[in-house]
Amino acid sequence: MPEAYVTLATNDGYAIGALVLGHSLHSVGTTRDLCILITPQVSQAIKSMLEGVFNKVEVVNVMDSNDTAHLSLLNRPELGVTFTKLHAWKLTCYSKCVFLDADILAVKNSDDLFQQPELSACCDIGWPDCFNSGMFVFVPNMDTYGALLKHAQTVGSFDGGDQGVLNTFFPNWNRVSFVYNMVASATYTYLPAYKQYGSNAKLVHFLGTMKPWQHRYDSQAGQVETSPGYQHLSPFLNSWWAIYVRLVQPGVPSIDVSKASEDRGFSVDGQVSSSMSGLLINETPQEGLARWERGEPDYLGKDAFSNIQAYIDSRLKQNGAK
Ligand code: UDP
Ligand code: GLC
Ligand code: MN
Repeated sequence: MPEAYVTLATNDGYAIGALVLGHSLHSVGTTRDLCILITPQVSQAIKSMLEGVFNKVEVVNVMDSNDTAHLSLLNRPELGVTFTKLHAWKLTCYSKCVFLDADILAVKNSDDLFQQPELSACCDIGWPDCFNSGMFVFVPNMDTYGALLKHAQTVGSFDGGDQGVLNTFFPNWNRVSFVYNMVASATYTYLPAYKQYGSNAKLVHFLGTMKPWQHRYDSQAGQVETSPGYQHLSPFLNSWWAIYVRLVQPGVPSIDVSKASEDRGFSVDGQVSSSMSGLLINETPQEGLARWERGEPDYLGKDAFSNIQAYIDSRLKQNGAK
């Protein structure tokens, strides 16, 4: 039976992240299948793009913890839907899987993870006795799936999301190196360790509210503008963008302006929105920045592929690659 990397997207914003993740896994030469769980909220246009990158696109229903009390502790009310991850245990056509959040970028081949047992993961940077559920090795199995659902209903989740369920279900998890789920941190002990070990990173996880697609790209300065606490990740953010502008953005049809602010990420579908560029003509730089940070890039104008391509070309020239 084959083995697979599995990810999840319940909206177009995270699906764009998943497309970059999928391309990055191909670019590091994985020999495993790629599978994505999506919910019906993902648009048909983006679903078609996913079908071009993933071996399997499985439509599942949304599972939501609806646990506002615990989610408010995380300050991430939107993460109740991460219960949808539990569907991954139903993928019994695979003998073993590695789950990856859609906000992860593969920078080195990580196929050796498939030698690890269920449940293998990395320490969470917030509470290292727990594992971070952005990456974990698991074995699909209907009995485990049933037991997990029962556990979610009876014990619940201490953070309102999947991480709080999975950690109490798998208390004896197997720890693998942090390079398989390298997350940014502002802790003072982080930077020296990052300097020592950061170049070994295999999977980079853009954990937190600020996703790669929400960092501002400055075509004049020629780089992604990183917020405080993220600067050391700028090479990885630039890699994310390089994949996005070359391999994903050209296929993204257009923005539906009426839906553009619904999600935290992009909202895209098949309709051409002529009003989008018109709306932005009189925009101040501050308004542009705020719009970008809301996850509403102006594909047809300032943030168009041609501007981003110019940046990549100028960087390649600077590095003498061309
Ligand atoms: N996710 C999703 N839709 C949402 C929120 C989350 O599909 O509205 C999925 C997506 O795969 C995402 C994962 O659940 O990467 C976990 O959420 P996120 O990465 O935002 O959490 P963090 O890692 O920042 O805690
Ligand atoms: C975490 C994980 C994420 C998970 C969320 C909610 O921080 O990175 O994958 O969905 O918590 O439990
Ligand atoms: Mn994540």
